[in-house]
Amino acid sequence: MFSKIKKDELYQNVYNGIWGGIKTDENIPIYAPLDNSFIGYIQKYSKNDVDRTIDNSKKTQVAWSETPINERAAILHKAATILEDHKEYLAELLCKEICKDKKSSLSEIQRTADFIRFTADEGKHLYGTAISSDSFPGYKKDKLSFATYVPLGVVLAISPFNYPINLSASKIAPALIAGNSVVFKPPTQGSISALHLAQIFNEAGIPPGILNTITGSSSEIGDYLVTHPSINFINFTGSTKIGRHIAKIAEMVPLLMELGGKDAAIVLEDADLEDASSDIVSGAFSYSGQRCTAVKRVLVMETVADALSEMIRKKVEELKVGSPFEDVQITPLIDNKAADFVQELIDDAVQKGGKLLIGNKREGNLIYPTLFDYVTKDMRLAWEEPFGPVLPIMRVKTIQEAIDIANRSEYGLQSSVFTKNIDKAFYIASKLDVGTVQINNRTERGPDHFPFLGVKSSGLGTQGISYSIKAMSRPKAIVLNFENKIE
Ligand code: NAP
Ligand code: G3P
Repeated sequence: MFSKIKKDELYQNVYNGIWGGIKTDENIPIYAPLDNSFIGYIQKYSKNDVDRTIDNSKKTQVAWSETPINERAAILHKAATILEDHKEYLAELLCKEICKDKKSSLSEIQRTADFIRFTADEGKHLYGTAISSDSFPGYKKDKLSFATYVPLGVVLAISPFNYPINLSASKIAPALIAGNSVVFKPPTQGSISALHLAQIFNEAGIPPGILNTITGSSSEIGDYLVTHPSINFINFTGSTKIGRHIAKIAEMVPLLMELGGKDAAIVLEDADLEDASSDIVSGAFSYSGQRCTAVKRVLVMETVADALSEMIRKKVEELKVGSPFEDVQITPLIDNKAADFVQELIDDAVQKGGKLLIGNKREGNLIYPTLFDYVTKDMRLAWEEPFGPVLPIMRVKTIQEAIDIANRSEYGLQSSVFTKNIDKAFYIASKLDVGTVQINNRTERGPDHFPFLGVKSSGLGTQGISYSIKAMSRPKAIVLNFENKIE
């Protein structure tokens, strides 16, 4: 099935149901972050190729929107099954292409299959409303507004490298069930895995043109793509820098954006420190910290800070470092540039007097898990998102100080509060300027039918299965005007 994508060493795009339907003169090589071995080429689309792709998506969308939802749902169910059937193969591909450890890669695939099925079922229950006029002052009972959900048209889905299958499907599946066509632009590093996902949807029966893919150099076609007049909605996950840029140039096109984060874990005196330290370590270091929802700073009451930091240190010491194909938690970062950035933040913390508890060791793009205590507000690590395996502990004297530091961030994705006192937990949660507060757990996105959103520089709009479907639909009202009497 996947052989359709590949011609010699080239992983092609799908255009109107045909892999390699658009030929390119130039291609982009993709290498494995683990050992720089060559994986394959992807196509380098031009602006003209972008035009052809979007025109095709626009033309084909109308027939798809008229396909009964139960038929659209059946195709999604089939896609989920095909995905599951190829779990092992796809997980190995993720290990190779984005250096995600095998266990997390398998979990990304399974979670995606579950996501697609749930989306298919949820889409079938997207009921509209009928509203009578007489509830509004001055109106009689002689009008009925029938509001049903209709698709927006062509959805542009742009995903990041860290979940090339899951964060792509979480845009594509809700868009499709709502009746949109999708132009899918995967991350360059991650695109080979993502193209496999597109093939799964096509194999499941998505009609030609309803899911087209675009690969290429973002600096050459990115702006052109997001400002294309036939794009009706942009669903983007990635860095705040790129998200902000897209929001500026996209003008009137509605956006759904999930961006960066600097999630704080606040630990009170009465917290179960053993549990909190486990959640914090898994939250901060899984997939080497390359998760938007990773715990990116700990704000701990100073009375329990010594005990907590020692527990965290011990657990960090136990983390296994190595190849993604083995049973490890820490693998090389996506590229050297990412590792250079993490190293800059570590160097800054060392230079400004942060107490290094463990780590600060680097081999190429592999950064060993690194933990700092006594991180202070003048250090970059207190505010910047490393997207790597480094965790700062900041000691605080009061709950108010913890809230102030948590909220002083430009980001507002999630926060955790660890305490046994439910009143304090709710008080703190109500004061934190974030999309979600986790009480006694690590910061994380799932389960995927929960609302997932960021405030401030962490995003625009809300994801989560039903929220995403509604975001990519709009109400269409048809008003019946009638005489409410018989002569
Ligand atoms: P990124 O550099 O912002 O890239 C994200 C996507 O945008 C990629 O597909 C990229 O393509 C594309 N892109 C870049 N420039 C573009 C342009 N001008 N127009 C259109 N598309 C453009 O992010 P990343 O490095 O892949 O991911 C890491 C970041 O994403 C972190 O900041 C993380 O916090 C954030 N993230 C947030 C969430 C969330 O849900 N809040 C989830 C995951 C990740 P190329 O690969 O070709 O450049
Ligand atoms: O970085 C991706 C973001 O959406 C986090 O997802 O499930 O790892 O919390 P998760």
